[in-house]
Amino acid sequence: MHFTSVTDIHDVHRLIQEALTLKNNPLAFQNLGKNKTLGLVFMNPSLRTRLSTQKAAQNLGMNILTVNADKDSWALEFQDGAVMDGGSVEHIRDAAPVLGAYCDIIGVRCFSGLQSKATDISEHTMRQFIQHTGKPYISLESATLHPLQSLADCMTMAEHRPKHRPKVVLTWAPHIKPIPHAVANSFAEWVNRTDADLVVACPEGYNLDPRFSGHAHTQHNQQKALEGADFVYVKNWSSYDDYGKIRCIDHAWMLTEHHLRNTNHARVMHCLPVRRNVELSDEILDGPHSLVQAQAVNRVFAAQVILKQMLESNP
Ligand code: CP
Repeated sequence: MHFTSVTDIHDVHRLIQEALTLKNNPLAFQNLGKNKTLGLVFMNPSLRTRLSTQKAAQNLGMNILTVNADKDSWALEFQDGAVMDGGSVEHIRDAAPVLGAYCDIIGVRCFSGLQSKATDISEHTMRQFIQHTGKPYISLESATLHPLQSLADCMTMAEHRPKHRPKVVLTWAPHIKPIPHAVANSFAEWVNRTDADLVVACPEGYNLDPRFSGHAHTQHNQQKALEGADFVYVKNWSSYDDYGKIRCIDHAWMLTEHHLRNTNHARVMHCLPVRRNVELSDEILDGPHSLVQAQAVNRVFAAQVILKQMLESNP
């Protein structure tokens, strides 16, 4: 079993329920991972993903080895046939089997470089880790997707779900830097597999890759999109068509209390880290509509249910 996308999951609803059950009794399977080792490789920074996955593994009794590539381990080369006379020190073909020998499950964070759409869509880095470690793989965010975040997001919406089929709005927000599409793509993919209606609100030039947004409706008028929303997920992403570029810095898209006036008392979500008063206003983040800390709490149980299933299918 690998966990790289919602497409690896047979029954999303059942997975969410299992994760919420684990949340009620986190130590119920504290011996399942005894004498098993989780290896975590970070090619990019992390607070929540690192700590929540470590905490999840601890709850299952696993040992954990963590490396920060290019910081406390060697800079990796991913190009086959490369003449390694530059900055990279060790080829993935040599490093990954070592990780595979030391660990039973491998988690890797490898962001998009936003340089090449084709390379990112191919998930070149993630595929090399999967191929050369030969062990079950858990994505800690790849070039195109962040499935552990999305599972935690779906758990959070399930906990706060209204009685009716909810309207979920994923709204683009301003940012000072070009940001990858992984969180937005992944959120769309997961919500499309739940009992909810998804609208993607973004300026012209920011439509998501339809491979991930699927049947979600895209709306370029944010206020219209927000009408009647039950959940509003705020996230920046760079242009997909003009790949990795910033095409708009319209600060009117920053979500404030004013934007929520025509929603259905919407709860507001963000994966964190957030640029306060650029993407989202202080008043929302510190107010009663925010679910951002609940999302972060659920990251532990999202990781734990996936690790549990991996341990059960690879005893
Ligand atoms: N949301 C999220 O993945 O947070 P980190 O980047 O801190 O891991």
